[in-house]
Amino acid sequence: MRSHSAVVGSVQLILAAALLLPAHHAMADDASGSDTARAPTSSPYTDTAMAPSPSSSNDTAVAPPAPLPLPFVIVEGVVYCKSCKTRGYSSDMNASPLQGATAQLVCYGKKVVNVTGTVTDANGYFLVMFYDLHNFNPRNCKVFLGSSPTPLCDKPVYPPNKWIGLSLVKETRTVPPVGLQAIYCPTSVLFYGPATAGQCPSG
Ligand SMILES: *[C@@H]1O[C@H](CO)[C@@H](O)[C@H](O)[C@H]1NC(C)=O
Ligand SMILES: *[C@@H]1O[C@H](CO)[C@@H](O)[C@H](O)[C@H]1NC(C)=O
Repeated sequence: MRSHSAVVGSVQLILAAALLLPAHHAMADDASGSDTARAPTSSPYTDTAMAPSPSSSNDTAVAPPAPLPLPFVIVEGVVYCKSCKTRGYSSDMNASPLQGATAQLVCYGKKVVNVTGTVTDANGYFLVMFYDLHNFNPRNCKVFLGSSPTPLCDKPVYPPNKWIGLSLVKETRTVPPVGLQAIYCPTSVLFYGPATAGQCPSG
């Protein structure tokens, strides 16, 4: 797939940003989303010269060690608009990247965990960071079309309806960042298409 190198480039960028967020674990479970709005702050404990001296050993404000990154997996993919020629059109696929769409990763473990990925960028790229590794088994997880940003391209084409999900395949990576267990992608690009043939989004 030609967009593969672009996808890998994007994941590295997003990872670099995501790993700076201390509150990202809350994203999967916290429906209110209140934690996700916190800006990343630099650690106040990096300056060892500030460490408490032995004479104040009864001080309760002793710096805790920096938390280890939580283990997680990444599922990444792309959403395209079939049969529409807009920016980034691929003649191989006869489709264009669909920006502003979502996809869902649903894992059927001891409990069902349903995580919505990032909104697709201009390349149609989305990313899901999944932390609930107790409920993660790549064989039991599927990627579903979630939402389209436009009624001109919101008919599921592949998978052919929103109740059918795509299986995961593992990507290989030489140097994974700390905490990252593996990267998976769906077996295919996901496609929406126009509900009425020929009536495509502009742009
Ligand atoms: C901590 O130690 C200081 C003297 O080193 C003492 O004045 C202070 O009361 C102690 N605080 C507590 C909570 O024990
Ligand atoms: C996952 O959650 C979304 C949004 O809450 C919902 O629309 C979708 O149907 C769910 N998917 C599955 C397979 O349960």
